[in-house]
Amino acid sequence: MNRLAGKHALITGGTSGIGLETAQRFLAEGARVLVTGVTPDSIEKARKILGEEVPVVRADARDLDAQRDLVEQVGRHFGRLDVVFLNAGVSDWRPFEAHTEDSFDQLFDTNVKGVFFLTQALLPVLANPSSVIINSSNSAHGGYGMANAYAATKAAVSSLMQSWNADLLASHGIRFNAISPGPVDTPLYSSAKLGIEDQAQRAVLLENIASHVPLGRMGRPEEIAEAVVYLASDAAAFTVGQDLVLDGGQTIL
Ligand SMILES: NC(=O)c1ccc[n+]([C@@H]2O[C@H](COP(=O)([O-])OP(=O)(O)OC[C@H]3O[C@@H](n4cnc5c(N)ncnc54)[C@H](OP(=O)(O)O)[C@@H]3O)[C@@H](O)[C@H]2O)c1
Repeated sequence: MNRLAGKHALITGGTSGIGLETAQRFLAEGARVLVTGVTPDSIEKARKILGEEVPVVRADARDLDAQRDLVEQVGRHFGRLDVVFLNAGVSDWRPFEAHTEDSFDQLFDTNVKGVFFLTQALLPVLANPSSVIINSSNSAHGGYGMANAYAATKAAVSSLMQSWNADLLASHGIRFNAISPGPVDTPLYSSAKLGIEDQAQRAVLLENIASHVPLGRMGRPEEIAEAVVYLASDAAAFTVGQDLVLDGGQTIL
């Protein structure tokens, strides 16, 4: 299929999980892709998977200078961008009482400040028309135990997505949409990222998560990537300001 033929795409957090899967789908659909990541091992791994044609750039979402460098690199590689998938993010589920100023700042700096200022910096290279898709979360749309600060970061970007259509659709031709996945089986649930060394304990947690999804399982990265391809493509040219919940029925059932 060639649903993204001729398009230039940036995927933040394209070195792992949903972003990496989406990068592969974009390539298969004919796009040229540049991805970002932050962890050296993850960047190396992504380079091997995505191949030499795909620039894999280290750009920390929390660092505004790095974001400006990234825009410069995008300009150098592609000249213009037709698609941006703002996907880089971290999750930190813990009891409300256990949050600290640092844990709060880590979440908001990566998931909100990074998205806000990268979007601002990208305006000069975004084509008219273009499509920006933000990776939010179904936790932004309901009350989930221990989601508190994380869910608030995702509610913030879902809100920005709507405001930015008001700011930028008519003047710049940029369509903003979001996806809001439920639990998806990615390295976000690895022992390292969960901070759970004990594999048995981790397995219990994953089973528990899956049992709260009406479909009875976690989502697969390809099921999320497919929705991003649609929103990025011209087939979605009339789709503006939507927040597509992809969660096996968790939010509505
Ligand atoms: N998995 C789920 O259940 C789920 C559900 C709802 C929403 N989401 C959202 O989906 C997005 C992707 O998550 P995932 O599940 O695919 O997790 P993942 O496999 O851990 O991937 C996260 C990606 O974000 C990058 N990243 C993390 N911190 C960064 C920073 N400071 N600067 C730049 N890049 C950074 C990582 O880069 P490195 O690999 O280089 O460290 C990686 O490429 C996140 O925004 C997450 O909140 C996930």
